[in-house]
Formats: sequence, structure tokens, C-alpha cells
Amino acid sequence: MRAVDIIQKKRDGLELSSAEIKWLIEGYVAGQVPDYQMSAFAMAVYFKGMTTREISDLTMTMVGTGEQIDLSEIAGIKVDKHSTGGVGDKVTLILVPLVASFGVPVAKMSGRGLGHTGGTIDKLESIKGFEVERNQEDFIKQVQELGLSVIGQSDQLVKADKLLYALRDVTATVDTIPLIASSVMSKKIAAGADSILLDVTVGEGAFMKNLTDARVLARTMVDLGKAVGRKTVAVITDMSQPLGRAIGNRLEILEALEILQGKGREDISDFICRLAQIMLGLADLEVSLEEVHSHLLDGSALKKFEEMVEAQGGDLQDLYRPSQAEFVLEIKADETGYIADLPAMEFGLFAMRLGAGRAVKSDDLDFETGIVFEKKVGEKVAAGELLAKIYANQKISQELVTEFKKNVKISNEPKKVSEIIEVIA
Ligand code: URA
Repeated sequence: MRAVDIIQKKRDGLELSSAEIKWLIEGYVAGQVPDYQMSAFAMAVYFKGMTTREISDLTMTMVGTGEQIDLSEIAGIKVDKHSTGGVGDKVTLILVPLVASFGVPVAKMSGRGLGHTGGTIDKLESIKGFEVERNQEDFIKQVQELGLSVIGQSDQLVKADKLLYALRDVTATVDTIPLIASSVMSKKIAAGADSILLDVTVGEGAFMKNLTDARVLARTMVDLGKAVGRKTVAVITDMSQPLGRAIGNRLEILEALEILQGKGREDISDFICRLAQIMLGLADLEVSLEEVHSHLLDGSALKKFEEMVEAQGGDLQDLYRPSQAEFVLEIKADETGYIADLPAMEFGLFAMRLGAGRAVKSDDLDFETGIVFEKKVGEKVAAGELLAKIYANQKISQELVTEFKKNVKISNEPKKVSEIIEVIA
């Protein structure tokens, strides 16, 4: 076989055979297919798409390019969760201990942030001492003993995705359904959980910009999961505005603690309780929303989180430390009205420029910086009232303030927002 023939076939909109997909992906991981041919292939997929059969072959070939985690030593139904990416997305930090507080084990591997989106592993690393790299044995042992662990994704898992994702990132081929579905599901299948909850984000700050595409991606991934015997449910969630109040690593840890103490914003707390209810259902545990909520109010979810932090070397004193950003600037509203728009992508990029995110993989992060919103879309605001606080370690210029304010749209009409748009099972 030759890579050029496979690229041409896809470029011309034809269906690839299982053998062709396997040859190309395995050749790429072995270093026999160069980056330039793989980029051309990714672009051909971007424009011509893939059939369900091709996506399934691509996913399973990718699973085979690395180790597969065996969680069978952990008793009970293991549930996993994955988000297709967002701004201010601290859901895992709360959801994992919340689900674990019901006795359902969660062994989760998470990623780092890139561009406008953040990553759970970076947020956890903003806690002094927290270790995100664990060998498989210790990871499994912790889940057996405590019921939860969140670690960085092993280098040995789905090697094809590691290479391909980095390539897609610099060749404008990330936001295409076949490649997102195979990337996400290959990692979830290799990570070994019995059941999977997929959070498919939609909106300005997400890879899927409209509901139609989000539905296709969600359905594709749910079907891939079910085809290999994993109970899989997807929720389509709004990412037109940042999730919750905070963007930025330390600031998001603090917001997660607020929610874990039952003191978070009602919208995000309710949203996470619904996700927890679905995840518990995936582990065959039917629980009312009130009961889920009670684990935030009575401290049992927080206790699980603290146990995890301690077990992974994190400093419990440092956990509650406020941001040490040198400059904190209050942004006040210029007019009275309702918040109509807080574009997630723009604020994600804004936070990135403050040092909270990476423009390129090698960038160092400033854990202390970011944004905390006091008002979210749909809420009333009066002229002069506090909209947000910017946390920075460099002096905040007037240009930056003007840019921030330009992105906060205020109108006369209240707008209704809902975090969960649809559930696809
Ligand atoms: N998240 C992933 O893991 N892969 C993608 O391709 C997009 C989002």
C-alpha cells in the first residue's frame, strides 16, 4: 500500500477499507508515514468525512496503538467522563468526588489545556505538591482504597492520538467529527471504564459551533462506545459562555471548592448534580437529584476531594489558598441592562494571554491569573456594578480593559440559558 493512494481515495470522497485505515495509522505511529502525508489525510477527512464503519475502524485501530488499562481489579462498575473541551470547565474536579462519594469508583485520566480551553491536570497542579503522574499500579490501588483518582493521561495510551492531535492542532483539522470522535473514544475505550459519560460542548467556545453538528458527534461517540460493550451516554452542553464563575487554574480550584462546599452558583451546582445523577445511573445506581445535592451540602463530596488531594501528595493548607496574583482589577458595567453575551472563546483567549493558558504546548502557565465573573448571561446589571475581576501578574493596560468590556454584551432583553441542552443515550 502507499499513503498517497489512501490520501487520494479519501480526497475523492471514497470509502477506505479497514486494511487501508489500519495500514495508514499503524504506519504513522511506526514513523513510516510522515507528518506531511498524515496532515494531507486529516485535511481530506475534514472535507470528505468518513462513514460510520470507517470511524469505527479508525477508533479501534487507534486503541491498538498503545496500552489498554485493565481496571478489573477494582470492584464495581467503573465510570468515566470526558468533555470535548471548554472554557472555565472545572466539572471533573467536582463530579469525580461527588460520584465517588456514593461509592461508585472513578479512575480518571485527564488532559492539559491548549489555546482557549483549560485542562483538569493543569488545574490540579496549581495545588502545591499534587502529583498527576502515577504508575498504573498506584493509580488502581488508590481507586481501590479511596474510590477515586485523577491523573494525567499515560504516554503509553493511544499513541496515535498523541501524534495525530498535535498534528491536527497545527493544521486546522481539529474540528471535524470523525477525528474528534475517534480521538475521544479511542482514549475512553483504552482507559478501561465500563461506562462513559460524554460531555459534548456546543457554542462559540466549543469545537462544535451548532446543535446539528453536536448531535451528530454525540450520536457517533455513543454508538462507538456501545459497539464495544461500554454503556455510553452523551450530554450536549452549552459552551457559548464560560462555565461557572472562574477561568484560570487556581481560581477554578477555588470555585470547585466553593461548589463542593454547597456554596457555588446554583446554575453550575445544579448542572453538575445532573451530570452526577447520569453518571451514577451508568453505574446502575438510581439516585434523586436532591440526594446528589445533599452530598455537596453535607461535605461528603468535599471529603472525597480532600482525600484524593492528600493521597496524591497535595498540600491541604495550600488547597484553600487564595490566588496570589499581584494585580486584581475590578471591571464595572458602563450601562444598565441584561448580560446578553460573554463569548467563551474570547474570554478563554483573554485568560490565556494573562498566562492562565498555553498558546503553544511548551508555554509555562501562571496558575494564579485569570478572570472571575460576578455576572453571567441572562442576569441583570446596573451601570457601575461589578461585572468581573481580572487577576494578573502584569500591570493591566487600559487597552486590555477596553477589550474586556467590548466582549461583554449588554441588552435590554433578558436571555434564557440552559447548561444541559440535550441528553443522547
Ligand atoms: N478532545 C479530544 O480528546 N480530542 C479531540 O479531537 C477534541 C477534543
